[in-house]
Amino acid sequence: METFIKQYTTTKLTDLELIEIPKIKDSRGNLAVIEKECIPFEIKRVYYLYDVPSDAFRGGHAHKELFQFLIPLSGSFEVRLKDGEEERLVSLNKPDKGLLITPGIWREIENFSSGSVCLVLASDVYDEADYIRNFDEFLLFKGL
Ligand code: TYD
Repeated sequence: METFIKQYTTTKLTDLELIEIPKIKDSRGNLAVIEKECIPFEIKRVYYLYDVPSDAFRGGHAHKELFQFLIPLSGSFEVRLKDGEEERLVSLNKPDKGLLITPGIWREIENFSSGSVCLVLASDVYDEADYIRNFDEFLLFKGL
């Protein structure tokens, strides 16, 4: 996938991708499969958000090198994305449609529906040093 960008300080909202996850439709229930062609990174970690209060705000940070793929396994939520110049609100509400977030993008996740589950596939293990948790620092990282 062409979105694999080396210079993460220059990533833009246009680098984000809504990716349709291949599925096997069946009257007994659908089966969605993520294999290596689906997303442009090797998965090193999987985590999920659940029991999220509807008024909660998650995220509020950017990553320096981490790629993430967010999937609304159940219910819905909104992802507010910022590249330092533009802002976009993406609503995730289909378990077969995920959002690829490249490094160097600020994200805030909000408006979780009751019982929603946000699955996150990540390109690396947890490392607090990869986080930018202050928006002014994020703008500096972007050279803005
Ligand atoms: P954070 O990534 O800030 O959550 P979110 O973006 O969903 O709001 O993580 C919340 C806390 O959990 C923070 O203290 C770091 C910790 N954490 C881990 O220890 N391991 C992990 O893999 C993740 C994602 C978070």
